[in-house]
Amino acid sequence: MHIRPVVRMLISAAAALLVAGTLTLSPAAELKSNEPKGNEGKGRYYFRQTCKSCHTKGAKGGEVSPLTKTMAQWRSYFLKAKHSGGAETLVQLLNADQLRDVQTFLVAHAADSLQPETCGK
Ligand code: HEC
Repeated sequence: MHIRPVVRMLISAAAALLVAGTLTLSPAAELKSNEPKGNEGKGRYYFRQTCKSCHTKGAKGGEVSPLTKTMAQWRSYFLKAKHSGGAETLVQLLNADQLRDVQTFLVAHAADSLQPETCGK
């Protein structure tokens, strides 16, 4: 029998592909792999330091937390990068690196994320 080793090889190759495929599969509401990856911890810090000063209940910006938007909504918010009803741009608040960190933090804990978080307290 010359076929059997070949068959066994094919089966183990198929099994390996299956395992690899399962490992790379991610839930729908995961971070996108092509998304610019900021530092979530720093983002949380900047959000608390800078954004929360105007974005708690009763403050002039009104309450804003990661839960305010979905992951997709945060992404498009930071893509447009307009703030305060378009009155200014986000880079007037923080530099581009810091904003990427804040975006990473907000997306990671958005309303439909795997770890929704009110945060910023
Ligand atoms: C100096 C005060 C101030 C700071 C700091 C601030 N905001 Fe705002 N923000 C506002 C005001 C005022 C509005 C407009 C609220 C309204 O129209 O009801 C607003 C609106 C918003 C909105 C609602 C959508 C929009 O843009 O109109 C989001 C989301 C938001 N801010 C996120 C942030 C984030 C993220 C940061 C930190 C990078 C931040 N804000 C920092 C004052 C501030």
